[in-house]
Amino acid sequence: SKLELNCADSFGGDSMATIKAAILGFGTVGQGIYNIVNEKREDLKKSLGLELEISAILVNNVGKERMATPGVLVTDNFEDIINIPGLQVVFEAIVNEEPAYNYLCRAIDKGCHVITANKVMFSKYSIPLHERAKSRGVFIGYEATTAGGVPVIKTLKNLLQVNSVKRIQGILNGTSNYILTQMRQDECPFDDSLKEAQDLGYAEADPFNDVSGQDAFRKLMILSALAFKKQPTWNDVRVVGIDEISLEDVRKAKEQGLRYRHVAEIEQDENGELYASVGPQLVGPDHPLYSIEGVNNAVALDTNYIGTLTLVGPGAGMYPTASVMVEDYAEIIGKRAGFFITI
Ligand code: HSE
Repeated sequence: SKLELNCADSFGGDSMATIKAAILGFGTVGQGIYNIVNEKREDLKKSLGLELEISAILVNNVGKERMATPGVLVTDNFEDIINIPGLQVVFEAIVNEEPAYNYLCRAIDKGCHVITANKVMFSKYSIPLHERAKSRGVFIGYEATTAGGVPVIKTLKNLLQVNSVKRIQGILNGTSNYILTQMRQDECPFDDSLKEAQDLGYAEADPFNDVSGQDAFRKLMILSALAFKKQPTWNDVRVVGIDEISLEDVRKAKEQGLRYRHVAEIEQDENGELYASVGPQLVGPDHPLYSIEGVNNAVALDTNYIGTLTLVGPGAGMYPTASVMVEDYAEIIGKRAGFFITI
């Protein structure tokens, strides 16, 4: 197809043995990408026939003490990165809509494939970004935006080729589930549990989005765009966080054999209307989300042919999230070589 030819062209055919990539943002996820790329360098080279080189890293503050990245340009100026000759892949792990969206538009316009973990940005701009990428013949990887290491995006893309999805229900914020689990199991107060989630690299730099339900909401909107090709009107969706749940509430629920779960759900009715909600629910042992503990996320997909498919796994953290971004890279390179095509 034209797409494959464009991509092969952008990689310079067989003569170019090295893929130049940049990482935008060097927090938990950015560092995870760097480490995995280094650890898996030889394996990736063998399986893909190309060497992946991290050429540059965009940081906020070049003066800050950080892990050594020998031979890599570390800069706080995006212009230094976008002007790297032959840059082909951009990993983006920044928070918030801007300047991330602007950076990714410019990277796509330059002919780079982009791989993002930025759910705040992607939940809003997935459609224009996809259109832009299509017109430029490049790919967007966004597995890491939703449910961390749980491969829900690639699974959905695959099953949507035959199945249709009627309903999605899940736990989409690892920090919230970790906090609720710690409060129940160890009677650990909310603030201390949040501090642990931050120390473990699960929480956002500003954990407001985690505990207010906004992070789960953005992920639900990304799933909605993929599964239903549209999103509900954002203001119509009731979004409640776990920040109002006290240790006493959790204790009382436990005495009754119940657990708090932070549940994000969306359903399409026969007329195509979408109904979504995000908030805590009390669930009993017969509920599928009852047993999902700690940083794990779970996503149950109700489909017409398969029935209900549930994916469970770590929903946050350096390596689960970064590894799916490197998988996106491998998938994109595979596409470029025509190994396989997905929607
Ligand atoms: N802060 C997010 C969470 C990270 O806890 O789920 C993964 O998106």
